[in-house]
Amino acid sequence: MSATDNTVADQDHAGADPGLPDGQQATALKRKDLLGIEDLDVEEINLILDTAQQFKEVSQRAIKKVPTLRGKSVINLFFEPSTRTRTSFEIAAKRLSADTQSISASTSAVVKGETLIDTARNIEAMFPDLLVIRHQFPGAAKVLADTCSAGVINAGDGAHEHPTQALLDALTIRDHKGSLEGLRVVMFGDIAHSRVVRSNIYCLNKLGANVVLAAPPTFMPYGVEALGVEVHQRLEPALEGADVVMALRIQLERGGKLSFPSLREYFKLFGLTRERLALAKDDAIVMHPGPMNRGVEIASDVADGPSSVILEQVSNGVAVRMAVLYLLARSGAAKHVEAVA
Ligand code: NCD
Repeated sequence: MSATDNTVADQDHAGADPGLPDGQQATALKRKDLLGIEDLDVEEINLILDTAQQFKEVSQRAIKKVPTLRGKSVINLFFEPSTRTRTSFEIAAKRLSADTQSISASTSAVVKGETLIDTARNIEAMFPDLLVIRHQFPGAAKVLADTCSAGVINAGDGAHEHPTQALLDALTIRDHKGSLEGLRVVMFGDIAHSRVVRSNIYCLNKLGANVVLAAPPTFMPYGVEALGVEVHQRLEPALEGADVVMALRIQLERGGKLSFPSLREYFKLFGLTRERLALAKDDAIVMHPGPMNRGVEIASDVADGPSSVILEQVSNGVAVRMAVLYLLARSGAAKHVEAVA
């Protein structure tokens, strides 16, 4: 294989590993951190999606590892419960051969009263390259990014943003529909407490989709129309002609419970059943960021039905996080070369 045949996964280690089939070369992101989709431009979003597309293949290999981030350290700081996102970041870093360390709130010095900035300074003193943070407070990832010279990836900060989730959602939609341009994408449920929705509104709008939100008034943030979305207080009119239907969990831990009388009533009015899904286009896809509450926002037969792409979202999560880790590590490396020159 000649050096010019190298693909994204392998290009830093010419000849060390068989290349990805699609040989498009990625460049670095123009930033140190990924804090939200709001700051990204369309080129950056497409760069991440195109790079993720190439990384997908690594997870299909018998040996699921490329040497791309060998010698780099990635620390995952999870101050909120998480299974899917944390595992996904860990797997992504490991498949790129980075050294990873995960710290969760229950085992960190936070329980001993340490502030986030002190935790950050201490971690910084160990020279990590990238930090992944999930925190209950909006802006926590920004605090870390401002304090540390390592690149910071926001894995969810309170009800603010969850950029890698929106990116993996966009990749999944693109896989099925080719492009997001002009698609009717419906997100419904607990809009008010959802960081997934906020990141998705930015991402989908930037990629040219028509974003439609449906929720009972107590779950709909006041003035959300200003973000360029169509708003409904009932699910049925929102679903009519939909290309993509995304159910959202009620964020009980963020006050969602107080906003409606009972889970049974909620399912009756807002649960995604087969009958309601029939209002969407025949080839509509059903998504959910997880964790799902079956029988609350989504009926089991819809979650497991032929339109569901929920597990594809999880697979795409690993590829998107590989792409983000790779592209941010490269922008750090580019900065280092500039500093030395
Ligand atoms: C989402 C989150 O944490 O914001 N889940 C996830 O990242 N997989 C959505 C949710 O918790 O409902």
